[in-house]
Amino acid sequence: MPRTLFQDEILTGIPAQLPEAKPYDKAINHAPKRKDILTKEEKLLALKNALRYFPEALHAQLAPEFAAELKEYGRIYMYRYRPSYKIYARPIDEYPAKSRQAAAIMAMIQNNLDERVAQHPHELIIYGGNGAIFQNWAQYRLVMQYLATMTDEQTLVMYSGHPLGLFPSHKDAPRVIVTNGMVIPNYSKPDDWERFNALGVSQYGQMTAGSYMYIGPQGIVHGTTITVMNAARKQGGSPAGKLFVTAGLGGMSGAQPKAGNIAGVVSVTAEINPKAAEKRYEQGWVDELHTDLDALIPRIKEAVKAAKPVSLAYVGNVVDLWERLADENIKVDLGSDQTSLHNPWAGGYYPVGYSLEESKRMMADEPGKFKEAVQASLRRHVAAVNRLAAKGMYFFDYGNAFLLESSRAGADVLKADGTFRYPSYVQDIMGPLYFDYGFGPFRWVCMSEKPEDLAKTDEIAVKVLSEIAANSPEEIAGQMRDNIHWIREAGRNKLVVGSQARILYADCEGRTQIALAFNEAIRKGEISAPIVLGRDHHDVSGTDSPFRETSNIYDGSRFTADMAVQNVIGDGFRGATWVSIHNGGGVGWGEVINGGFGMVIDGSEDSARHIREMLFWDVNNGIARRSWARNSGARFAIEREMARTPGLKVTLPNEADETLIKNALQ
Ligand SMILES: NC(=O)c1ccc[n+]([C@@H]2O[C@H](COP(=O)([O-])OP(=O)(O)OC[C@H]3O[C@@H](n4cnc5c(N)ncnc54)[C@H](O)[C@@H]3O)[C@@H](O)[C@H]2O)c1
Repeated sequence: MPRTLFQDEILTGIPAQLPEAKPYDKAINHAPKRKDILTKEEKLLALKNALRYFPEALHAQLAPEFAAELKEYGRIYMYRYRPSYKIYARPIDEYPAKSRQAAAIMAMIQNNLDERVAQHPHELIIYGGNGAIFQNWAQYRLVMQYLATMTDEQTLVMYSGHPLGLFPSHKDAPRVIVTNGMVIPNYSKPDDWERFNALGVSQYGQMTAGSYMYIGPQGIVHGTTITVMNAARKQGGSPAGKLFVTAGLGGMSGAQPKAGNIAGVVSVTAEINPKAAEKRYEQGWVDELHTDLDALIPRIKEAVKAAKPVSLAYVGNVVDLWERLADENIKVDLGSDQTSLHNPWAGGYYPVGYSLEESKRMMADEPGKFKEAVQASLRRHVAAVNRLAAKGMYFFDYGNAFLLESSRAGADVLKADGTFRYPSYVQDIMGPLYFDYGFGPFRWVCMSEKPEDLAKTDEIAVKVLSEIAANSPEEIAGQMRDNIHWIREAGRNKLVVGSQARILYADCEGRTQIALAFNEAIRKGEISAPIVLGRDHHDVSGTDSPFRETSNIYDGSRFTADMAVQNVIGDGFRGATWVSIHNGGGVGWGEVINGGFGMVIDGSEDSARHIREMLFWDVNNGIARRSWARNSGARFAIEREMARTPGLKVTLPNEADETLIKNALQ
């Protein structure tokens, strides 16, 4: 078959001739200008670093262009090198490749950068304001070329978006090893990220952005649904007519209104950026957009009275919304926030009282003043939340560092003993009910990109889970029921944005049995192409994050990161097709270590072996750690696993008597 232009361009990598300059497309949502952090000397270094991707003959032309980008945007993106083809997940057979595994990874990269999926696609930012897949377009081009030419006996090594190169390995080794933002701990502050990123030597990979595993807002919907559902249960009675108020219609936060509808509540989500709000509205992820609080308040009252699920959005600042709700004495049942507070000083949180444009200008030109405005806004934000919480609202931190940054801003968010007034969703819901039992955000992507293959996988997953649920112990029966309900409804809820992907919270047994059944269906030709298995880093074992994933670890070890590091090392030699380890995913640089994997399954015996060996470790190492931390659900789960798995022998904690300890210290 003759090669397509798409294939040609990938195989060319960085062309010898200068490609046409690309106009700056104003219709696209662009990353905010980054702050001017480099010294004069460092700027020379940044330029020199950028030019090392190109032959010397092009330097005279590229140097002033890159210098202008650095000045204008605070980063060198190399816009000229954006490819001329449209980026989206094509079926696996359309990639030029010697390795099917590498072709699948190309498809995943293409999906991350799809304009319908990525937040700031031209700056290679996938979600969360600064969650990058690559630092610049030269890296993208080189990586695609390496993937297109590599074999199953090579491994591509990725340093924060930069491809170090292909190294000989073997067919059971990962095809790609990704590290993002790995820095010496003393250089892990937000400004260090600004500096290293501007120099072109490090990047913030978020969780699924820099690890090629982002599947659009669906990736977070299931987790958000079970969180909202369980939060509503805490308030007692039916979810119908309960009011849930939150903020953010961005990459992941955009899942909230959809989750609210599925959980059966009335939701109001504030979003300051009209482009983000309109995108979610057009995609059918939020039902109504409102710009006027005077009109929104009666609409909220009407919706609560009707007690039917509906998702309303307020296009404006969430602090204005909270204050108005408190002033009007509206009964809010559930409250949360998903602004990007993991990135408070560079566009993650917009302070009340300033327009979007004014904030963007201030964060680049007057960073000190901007920081003060954010902190003042957070103090007002918390004050309004506190007024409603005093009247019975259940407020929870949704893992965006809201409580952490509010406390740093001096907001009234701490109890007398120095702990937060409000729980994180992991402490109350996700940790004890899900992670401790091994339930986490398992996902898969059909490499044929055919909706009928996805429908077939849904069908298989329902069958497998129903069989397992028939014999599930009482401790996990409810979770199994919710998950079966979710997967039955998934097709109807039209969750796909970008590639044909599905998320499903499942435990080790569920993940393994579902994956083996997929593999068998591929072998028999019932599913027409390979499948990529993976997960969010936000899982049982993948992430050490003291205020989020590991916030329900109470033995003092939540500030250690052994689990996340061990997890990735173990996945790497048990059959993952690619692994990743990152600094900062979800809550910000320096605050967390997180990792994940991707696994291509193709119906072979090798795939079945990888599934059994790797998924077992990937879930159970975290359960073992949670059990050692004395979490009762995890203790139950790991003892159950040991009883049925020869070769598994985990150190179990002995419980000490509280009075005995107190007396000993007197
Ligand atoms: N724990 C989880 O499972 C989980 C899930 C989703 C998101 N998160 C966290 O939530 C945050 C949001 O993630 P995202 O991918 O949606 O990020 P995002 O940057 O794409 O979206 C955040 C949105 O909030 C809006 N916003 C900021 N300040 C605002 C304000 N004052 N009023 C109204 N809107 C405002 C922004 O315009 C933006 O669209 C991140 O910190 C992420 O790590 C956690």
